[in-house]
Amino acid sequence: MIQAIKGAKDILPEESSLWQRLEEKLRALARAYHYEEIRVPTFEETELFVKGTGEATDIVGKEMYTFLDKGERSITLKPEGTPSVIRAYLEHGLAGKAPLFKVYYLERMYRQEKPQAGRLRQFTQFGAEALGSLDPALDAEMLDLAWKVCEMAGLKQIELRLSSIGCPNCRPSYKAMIKEKLLPKVGELCGDCKERMEKNPLRVLDCKVEHCRELTQGIPSILDYLCAECAEHFARVKAYLGELGIPYLLDTRLVRGLDYYTKTVFEIIATNLGSQGALPAGGRYDGLVETLGGKPTPGVGFACGIERLLLAMEKEGVVWKDDNRLEVFIATLGEEAKKAGFKLGQELRHQGFSCEMDFLSRSLKAQMREADRLKARFVLILGDEEIRKKVVVLRDMATKEQREVTREAAIAIFTEHFVHIAY
Ligand code: HAM
Repeated sequence: MIQAIKGAKDILPEESSLWQRLEEKLRALARAYHYEEIRVPTFEETELFVKGTGEATDIVGKEMYTFLDKGERSITLKPEGTPSVIRAYLEHGLAGKAPLFKVYYLERMYRQEKPQAGRLRQFTQFGAEALGSLDPALDAEMLDLAWKVCEMAGLKQIELRLSSIGCPNCRPSYKAMIKEKLLPKVGELCGDCKERMEKNPLRVLDCKVEHCRELTQGIPSILDYLCAECAEHFARVKAYLGELGIPYLLDTRLVRGLDYYTKTVFEIIATNLGSQGALPAGGRYDGLVETLGGKPTPGVGFACGIERLLLAMEKEGVVWKDDNRLEVFIATLGEEAKKAGFKLGQELRHQGFSCEMDFLSRSLKAQMREADRLKARFVLILGDEEIRKKVVVLRDMATKEQREVTREAAIAIFTEHFVHIAY
């Protein structure tokens, strides 16, 4: 039997209602922070990620799904959203339309990583990007939004790790210092770190291999190497976070696996997920728009893996009330009642209530059992007697109370009962 590719998961009907609720809440959250949705293509020219994500990154070096199309162009399934957002921003001249461009996306991404719990080859990111302002308040807005994503999901075992990795003015001297300190011990570093020493020595700090961590133990903090502008920016970001009351840990080993970051970098970690614990993760990227051919334009953003968010919720035992359950089941007895019930069911559906009925000619008892199995909130029962009296029997499945009401009264009760969700 043909099976799904490893690392590409099916989302089955029993899980999809939770996905939908989460997606609705994320959209409501983005709306509250005034981020509008952008949808970008699934694939792009490979060059976009080579330039944007960065040639030295693991993503570009090892993980992209790249192929030649029939026109012999190199195409890549997008491994992350940020370069595509900037391409769209430049391609459509959006800089000229508003001084500050704020968007969010909820999209599938593709990376050929080794699959494991929380690490997939096809995964979903909720991401936000803001282009056009250097204001540290915007970094804080992003951090607040990212924190809220986790809070909204009901997570408590989370930690915000924060740092600044400086800018092209101050970072080179820090990189040079790392290189100088580690050069005598380069033979002891792991294979990946030997490569990192060439491409981006900063990433050696981020290595998870115990011996590499020991070797980098005494290396001074990057925060001591920041130029005046980066130091001032970081101080103001931290001050805003203080105002918001968001707790954070300074993590000077936090480098992030992407090349484009400048100044603020952060990750919110689910402390119960082990090495694949990063949920929202991102930072500032003030040089990226220029790298991709635009005018110098500062930017800041983050993205959060939804599968990981769900995993963290499961680990913490977060249970959401299943609001997507069936609202009304119509049980009928006899041919006339079936016809009337069918019509009433369609009317309810046209008004937006989720409604199901019997299509298997089951007995009334079996229909009631089915309503129970489907966790219907209410059942409407219709037989000849009800048709004659122009009423329906309304059964509240939570209280088990049952009473005769008119159809209009039943609809009024449903309208009052079922409210739309907000985040
Ligand atoms: P990233 O750190 O590569 O950053 O990914 C962000 C988040 O996506 C991770 O923290 C994780 O939750 C999720 N994620 C990444 N890879 C996988 C995977 N293989 N399986 C499951 N989940 C995964 C970015 O993608 C940047 N574009 C974030 C950003 C936006 N920075 C600025 N703006």
